[in-house]
Amino acid sequence: MSARPLRNIDLDAALADAERRYADANPGSREAFEAACKALPGGNTRSGLYFPPFPLALARGEAARVWDVDGHAYTDFVVEYTAGLYGHSNPAITAAVRRALDDGIVLGGPNRNEARFAEALCARIPSLELVRFCNSGTEANLMALGATRAITGRDKVMAFDGAYHGGVLNFRAGGAPINAPFRFVMARYNDTDATLALIDEHARDLAAIIVEPMIGAGGCIPGDRDFLAGLRAASERHGVILVFDEVMTSRLAPGGLQEAHAITPDMTTLGKYLGGGLSFGAFGGRADIMARFDSRKPGAFPHSGTFNNNVLTMAAGLAGITEVYTPEACDALNAAGDAVRERLNAVMRKHAVAAQVTGRGSMSSVHFRGGEIRSPGDAAQGDMTARALFHIELILRGQYTSRYGMINLSLPMAGPDLDGLVAAVDDVIAEHAPLLAAA
Ligand SMILES: Cc1ncc(COP(=O)(O)O)c(C=O)c1O
Repeated sequence: MSARPLRNIDLDAALADAERRYADANPGSREAFEAACKALPGGNTRSGLYFPPFPLALARGEAARVWDVDGHAYTDFVVEYTAGLYGHSNPAITAAVRRALDDGIVLGGPNRNEARFAEALCARIPSLELVRFCNSGTEANLMALGATRAITGRDKVMAFDGAYHGGVLNFRAGGAPINAPFRFVMARYNDTDATLALIDEHARDLAAIIVEPMIGAGGCIPGDRDFLAGLRAASERHGVILVFDEVMTSRLAPGGLQEAHAITPDMTTLGKYLGGGLSFGAFGGRADIMARFDSRKPGAFPHSGTFNNNVLTMAAGLAGITEVYTPEACDALNAAGDAVRERLNAVMRKHAVAAQVTGRGSMSSVHFRGGEIRSPGDAAQGDMTARALFHIELILRGQYTSRYGMINLSLPMAGPDLDGLVAAVDDVIAEHAPLLAAA
């Protein structure tokens, strides 16, 4: 006899039923998945995109919409895990990429856009006095952390349980076994007292603290300003380099969350949408730190990368930040995100289910649990079966969201797209409310 309550057995059955309907509706995606398994372990090359019984195979995208290989259209709230902020076909970005294509794509020298792009980023993000480009957020964090260890002569890095800083800096679910072999000191997000005590304890060996000012992939959990300010003060006190990973969160205010909180870290890492939708990473910060990468100086840190300044990303990124994601556009998108999150929470309250939507601005995450969520550990206590059911049911209603509960906005989204999401969530929750834990 199972000790599980009846409610969860019903939820399992509801999920199995939804997965059956999903599988029946998506034969092309199933076929694509089975074919992919022949050459890709697990049928894909990004673990986070897998969900059972098989992920949707996408054929194309336009503005805020994607189409799968079976011809269904979806409003795209995955937004490429925040990198798709500009949507799928922004005219300024596609024009910039076309111009770059016309001029040759592998120039192998400094090109006409990289310095302008760097300047635009430094003008926008308060902590960036100097910046360097790379190919991904993962790489940006590895470069930043490597630099902090070389500069301080210390070898430990403080990170937070449940945070995600890249494929080899993954602290979700207890940490990935393939993580980069830094010596990590793990702390609990938003737990200021315990974190400060840990910093004091390890200060002599601590090169860096890496933190997202809002935990992104780990559940869209905003950091308290006091917590972030505490990290700033303690890192200053102990000569530890404070790294804000704003790979996701820089989209939440014109100068990133560091500007919104008026807390300036020593270094910042960037990625995602800032490449205009193409592969991108950047790390930067205090001039004295970044000057260590100045190739004119003896003993400069080498930082190479064939595609660091690839012409397509440089062109797309520059057009995006200067022509499209202006401070005004940023403020409007995030206000729309705040409003839709409030509407989604109102739906959860209306149906009296133990579910909530956390986040800030244009990034949100759905959690199937009541009570306050202040750390990824709190989020992990949510009902994952309910979350999976919610995800599949939304897909069946034309709403493409992340299996992790993440719902992101993109610039081309309009009122009817957001109304459509709220209506679909209302419908899913109404249908399954009897199976979900009560608020
Ligand atoms: C906060 C954060 N840092 C770093 C990364 C890694 O970026 P990339 O996928 O470009 O390597 C991610 C990706 O989701 C992220 O969310």
